[in-house]
Amino acid sequence: MDKITVVGAGNVGATCANVIAHKDLTREVVLVDIKEGIAEGKALDIWQTSSINNFNTRVVGVTNDYLRTKGSGIIVITSGLPRKPGMSRDDLIKTNAGIVKEVTERVTKYSPDAIIIVVSNPLDVMTYCAYLVSNKPSQKVFGMAGILDTGRYRAFIAEALDVSPKDILSLSLGGHGDSMVPLPRYTCVNGIPINELLGQDEINKIVERTRFGGGELVNLMGTSAWYAPGAAAAQMVEAIVDDQKRIFPVCAWLQGEYGLKNIYMGVPVKLGKNGIESIIEIQLSKEEKKLLSESADSLKKVMKVLDDMKLF
Ligand code: NAI
Ligand code: 2OP
Repeated sequence: MDKITVVGAGNVGATCANVIAHKDLTREVVLVDIKEGIAEGKALDIWQTSSINNFNTRVVGVTNDYLRTKGSGIIVITSGLPRKPGMSRDDLIKTNAGIVKEVTERVTKYSPDAIIIVVSNPLDVMTYCAYLVSNKPSQKVFGMAGILDTGRYRAFIAEALDVSPKDILSLSLGGHGDSMVPLPRYTCVNGIPINELLGQDEINKIVERTRFGGGELVNLMGTSAWYAPGAAAAQMVEAIVDDQKRIFPVCAWLQGEYGLKNIYMGVPVKLGKNGIESIIEIQLSKEEKKLLSESADSLKKVMKVLDDMKLF
């Protein structure tokens, strides 16, 4: 791919651009920010690691110069405020909706065919916001959360079992918030069901820690995480650029799948060069369905806050 744009040169955006460059996924990464000099500086810093880390991808930073993003194949939107201790992701909507709206309008003008990956919080509703603004098919507008949430979940399981995190396969559904639904029934260690290796109490504790995994980091650092979020967004970019057909939990627009309509929420999808190539529906137990429906209800409340803002 010739060009990928990352909007927001803060913690997550700069990390994502860094991983994209390390993996040589494109000829050029353009990092954009509203704060004078920050994108230019971080891009220059990343680019100066190219000879050390052996990559060719050019990394360029600009302040609000969207013309420079023209012709991007993928746009990753990370602009917006992160959480502070005591805040929920939903508290960010008033500020971040305006930012995501403006940024989506500007990137879409110069890259009408680009795939958009939203990272800004509250994730599911900010993805909905980008979808409303961009006028693109929903297969080309989606959000990153599930890879991060399952990344945390997999790390906790690997620690509990003292095995490689690479061998943990798992799934999480629902919104990117405390109502997310990690699925132990769909979790295994290279084929061995997790409940053969861990007791129910331990599994429950890991599920709880995963649901509040973002908050754990906010409390430790005073702001939200960036290494895992940046790497997770870059993994989605990689699946698209290399047409990998990876199956990932992704925040996708549902039109009847899982009995839900007109809502963005985390579900398993196939990710390839066209973006979301299919949404995969798995069988859920009664209890799992209930948790998913509660997650959808809490997302609908945040969608209503966005609708009431009358930005569209
Ligand atoms: P940060 O504060 O380090 O960076 C945000 C950047 O956005 C800043 O450099 C700021 O100047 C820039 N920005 C603000 N308005 C802009 C505009 N109109 N145009 C261009 N740039 C603009 O924050 P961080 O930690 O990078 O987080 C970014 C967002 O990602 C937050 O909303 C955070 O909650 C979210 N997040 C989402 C995750 C997920 O799983 N989906 C995980 C981690 C963070
Ligand atoms: C996270 O889960 C805050 O969404 C961010 O780390």
